[in-house]
Amino acid sequence: MAAFSKPEAYGRWMGRWSERLAPGFGRFSGLAEGCRVLDVGAGTGVLGATIVQLFNQVEVVGVEPSVEYVAYARAAHLDPRLSFYVGDAQALPFADNSFDASLALLILQELPDAAVAAGEMRRVTRPGGIVAACQWDFRDGMPMTSLFWQAVQEVSPEAVAQAAAARRTPSGYSDREALAQLWSEAGLQSPETSRLEITMEFASFDDYWTPFLSNATPTSSFAGTLPPAVRQTVTGTLREKLIGSGPDRPFALNAAAVAVRGIAP
Ligand SMILES: C[S@@+](CC[C@H](N)C(=O)[O-])C[C@H]1O[C@@H](n2cnc3c(N)ncnc32)[C@H](O)[C@@H]1O
Repeated sequence: MAAFSKPEAYGRWMGRWSERLAPGFGRFSGLAEGCRVLDVGAGTGVLGATIVQLFNQVEVVGVEPSVEYVAYARAAHLDPRLSFYVGDAQALPFADNSFDASLALLILQELPDAAVAAGEMRRVTRPGGIVAACQWDFRDGMPMTSLFWQAVQEVSPEAVAQAAAARRTPSGYSDREALAQLWSEAGLQSPETSRLEITMEFASFDDYWTPFLSNATPTSSFAGTLPPAVRQTVTGTLREKLIGSGPDRPFALNAAAVAVRGIAP
């Protein structure tokens, strides 16, 4: 099954985090009334739906390679200011200078060549327009996944090594310096970075854990590939880390993302 083909499962896995992150990223990007925005790697349409709540006179075009996500986004977001198309960040299907701003939320880690995508975002943005991206700080700012990888490491270090070899562990563009360098090398002017922090509530351990078994994305589908005995021990280890040994209960996790914005020349 192709990665990113189950939009409902994505919502329970990462979409709910995106919803929390999108308003801060939208504000950081410096959008203004009247602008035409490209959402690169739009997924299920979370960022566009947020931007049309922040601004009245705005148009957001989402581009996303998953046909299933695009179909879902079109059905879920009926606001006429939003539209969604199938396309690749590394070969954007738009003319030069056709947007006032190009934004990418949580996609650079998925790309074979993020520098090509940054160049494409620059190309389709008019001179003086904004190009911005936002990524989880995978070093210490995304506990939903880092606690999982810690638990797997404790139970089965060889499984983590295999995942890293298959490039399934998160990496890349997790810090402000790396993002600023990517933007500078793409020729984007005056790159500025920021750290965005959010909190996510979970109703129970199952609310946290079930999405790991949902095959929603390359990372989330990894838990399902663990041998059953390993998976069971990982589950117990994670549960202990998150809520201790008592009965199931609600809990919250803090998360941090890094963002960059620059000006198209
Ligand atoms: C973690 S999701 C983020 C989606 C959305 N931006 C959000 O915040 O909810 C990563 C997205 O990157 C998309 N993606 C993967 N490869 C891509 C590519 N070459 N070009 C554009 N998007 C890509 C995936 O299909 C997926 O929708």
